[in-house]
Amino acid sequence: MSNVLPFGPEDQLTAAVVPVVNDLYDLTPDELLLSQEHYESEVRSYPRRLPLAIKKAQGLLVEDTRGQIFLDCLAGAGTLALGYNHPEINEAIVDALNSGLPYQTLDMTTPAKDKFIREVMSFLPQEFAQNARIQFCGPSGADAVEAAIKLAKQTTGRNTMVAFHGAYHGQTNGTMAMMGNLNTKARRTGLMSDVHFFPFPYSLRCPFGQGGEEGAAQAIRYIERVLNDDESGIQKPAAIILEPIQGEGGVIPAPAEFLRELRRITTEHGILLIFDEIQCGIGKTGDNFAFEESGIMPDILCLSKAVGGGLPMSILLFHKDVDSWRPGEHTGTFRGNQLAMATGAKALEIIRRDNLVDNAAKAGAYLREKLEVVAAETGCIAEVRGRGLMLGLEIVKKDGSLNKLGEPMADPQRTLQIQRECLKRGLIIEKGGRQGSVLRFLPPLIINFEQIDFAVDAVRAAILATEAN
Ligand SMILES: Cc1ncc(COP(=O)(O)O)c(C=O)c1O
Repeated sequence: MSNVLPFGPEDQLTAAVVPVVNDLYDLTPDELLLSQEHYESEVRSYPRRLPLAIKKAQGLLVEDTRGQIFLDCLAGAGTLALGYNHPEINEAIVDALNSGLPYQTLDMTTPAKDKFIREVMSFLPQEFAQNARIQFCGPSGADAVEAAIKLAKQTTGRNTMVAFHGAYHGQTNGTMAMMGNLNTKARRTGLMSDVHFFPFPYSLRCPFGQGGEEGAAQAIRYIERVLNDDESGIQKPAAIILEPIQGEGGVIPAPAEFLRELRRITTEHGILLIFDEIQCGIGKTGDNFAFEESGIMPDILCLSKAVGGGLPMSILLFHKDVDSWRPGEHTGTFRGNQLAMATGAKALEIIRRDNLVDNAAKAGAYLREKLEVVAAETGCIAEVRGRGLMLGLEIVKKDGSLNKLGEPMADPQRTLQIQRECLKRGLIIEKGGRQGSVLRFLPPLIINFEQIDFAVDAVRAAILATEAN
């Protein structure tokens, strides 16, 4: 098996658990970064905040072309549940290739595909799986959401979609229409019509000025009132779509009671309920799926990112009664990526075998506890929130200043500086949320306590380094 590992035993990446940082990393662009800047379109995004040219990676560690090592708590934006180059995932790829399996088969079946489907079904709650149908989309998360939109509209014969403030479902025409963030939408005209936005239960910046359980109850009341109002101006929706934990919107979990109430209301009105677990699914939150905490089931579930074990994969799961497709109504050439079937099946098998969802719950609780200490020490973190290993820190002005709605004033400049100072100390974390003021953790499920200690020390030091601001 060692010949499938990308690094020899003498390699520091295979031996290291955390980066060793003696001096702050030098982030001036090297030749590769300059070349990227020259050739690649202005549309590039991550390299602006994370200016790294990656040479190799293993587990949570990434080595750049200058030999600097980083602990990666972004991990391909949540795709790498088992970290980089897990030996058994690498082996699954090699085995698939050696077995003569084609790279892709459109939507024709293979033993690898059948195994993947069975693994996915057994990863789902039994109550959902027993009546579920799977649809392969391809290969991006946005395509799964696009398929969900079409499915919901054709099943109900309605055109309206409801999404939430802070939502992120991708960047295609339909998914972008359901996006909260206005910056990326600013120059888009003619996005999918008939989308309406409802308030998400975001305690810190509650539209009802309440927060907590009361704020979530008010959001439900608002939704129910609108749906029952014959003067609301909103046609009855085909579906309500949401992320049980908003990711890009700032790591905001929907309380279980909110989801239960949403299920009650959608059932009463014959509206489909779509959960987008593209980011929060596959164990990150300490449950197989984030919605499981609520005990309710969606009509349609969108999955991508980690479900492919690190390779591109995008699927929909829905109740068989919703399966209103006619043959070929949502196709796509790359729906049959066989290597992703092999890696996806292997990843789910390993997650179950090694109790990695439990690890996410335990490691997440440890990470959260330590981040709360940092919040108390530093005074610039309004909230540590999220579930399991999907955690966010909302950075606000330390002087306690409030905006005109009486909410803590966001501090986007400092958030950006903290992210950069973390990078100089060997830690890769993401940033997002309202005004870009939320630092985000989305590490692989295999993160260990030593790595968490390293990450928290880096965050603390980065915050102190930006103290003057
Ligand atoms: C919740 C959610 N839905 C959909 C998407 C879109 O996935 P993709 O970028 O693969 O199109 C993302 C990506 O970040 C996401 O976080």
